[in-house]
Amino acid sequence: THQPSAQQHGFAWRALDDACARVLPQLFPSENFFKRREEVRRRVEACLNNADVLGNGRRLVLRVFGSSANLFGAEGADLDMCVVPAASEEDTELSSPEVCRRVGEALESAGAKNVQVRDTARVPIVLFADPQTGLDCDVSTHNPLALRNTELLRAYAKIDGRVRGMAYVIKKWAKIRGINSPSDGTLSSYGYILCVLAFLQTVPNPPILPSLQRLDLDWPNPKNPDRPPPERVPHPFDASRDVCLSFHDPDKTGSLADLREIAGRNRQSLGELLALFFRHYAWDVDYRNLVVAPRTACVLPKANKAELDCWPQNPHLAIEDPFETHYDVAHVLKYPKHQLVRKEFMRASKLIDDAAAQRVDPDLVLDY
Ligand code: CTP
Ligand code: MG
Repeated sequence: THQPSAQQHGFAWRALDDACARVLPQLFPSENFFKRREEVRRRVEACLNNADVLGNGRRLVLRVFGSSANLFGAEGADLDMCVVPAASEEDTELSSPEVCRRVGEALESAGAKNVQVRDTARVPIVLFADPQTGLDCDVSTHNPLALRNTELLRAYAKIDGRVRGMAYVIKKWAKIRGINSPSDGTLSSYGYILCVLAFLQTVPNPPILPSLQRLDLDWPNPKNPDRPPPERVPHPFDASRDVCLSFHDPDKTGSLADLREIAGRNRQSLGELLALFFRHYAWDVDYRNLVVAPRTACVLPKANKAELDCWPQNPHLAIEDPFETHYDVAHVLKYPKHQLVRKEFMRASKLIDDAAAQRVDPDLVLDY
């Protein structure tokens, strides 16, 4: 088929830039978004402490993770919260189904709506709607990795405005196209964000993002040139494994301005990056052989990962979790759903090419 010329591509990219400029201000949350969510968090925290869900008067703190804390949250997102003991004592018993059931009972007594207790899930969790605001909430009882990956995503979001811009558009696109529902076998929002990060690390030239986890190993440390390798800690749910939770946090190391300057050497616009993103995941990724891995800022061969038992060489999208490196965030995508998601990447990419060739607005990609 006829490939659009560079000039025609430029036309489509500018039209996408305009579409993003229209849509993003409506997606970015207001000050109120955080204020309202903080009020709900406090109320639920007080409710769980009043009900003494940890027993023996031990206090808990509720911490927010997911899109209400990672800078990728839009109005309408759920509020993800996690129980942390107020005193720094042993917290392993938090994962017990018993604590989860007590959380469910306390919320039910306090009038929460649609309470669902999932005490046998890998991460025990209670889902409910806050009666005062109607906000969909969940409380997990022991989820330190989610708290940590929220901090990692937040750190990436601060490096360059295009990181948030792309993630908001992709999340919205995935919701509208009906491919953002892990319970129906499609990809979680977290999975799409990891795809955006891996893309920004590997496709644009020069790259817009580094791997903050690799940078942690490589960044010069004049105070301690012989720094030992970062510590590994026991996996919170799986005693047979350990995990490394460190990453280079630009806020703590004062490197944010440097990382921004490096990202800024790439001048590609949001529209151009979106077009490249769709094309990349539609046509260029070797799904059978490679794993999307924002931990490394390069694609990993599935063949190496196969030793770790859960990376079969099938044609499905596979995404390595940045901290749980044995865990495939896209494992829910079985073949028909993988095809469905891939077809959506192709559809978006073709629409952008058609828009370029015919000089029409590629609004259909972002048809909201
Ligand atoms: N999470 C995780 N592993 C997964 C899925 C989710 O650790 N396989 C954690 C991540 O911390 C993620 C949070 O759970 O940020 C919430 O997941 P999800 O709902 O997919 O992402 P949100 O960013 O909250 O997106 P949305 O705005 O759609 O709620
Ligand atoms: Mg969420």
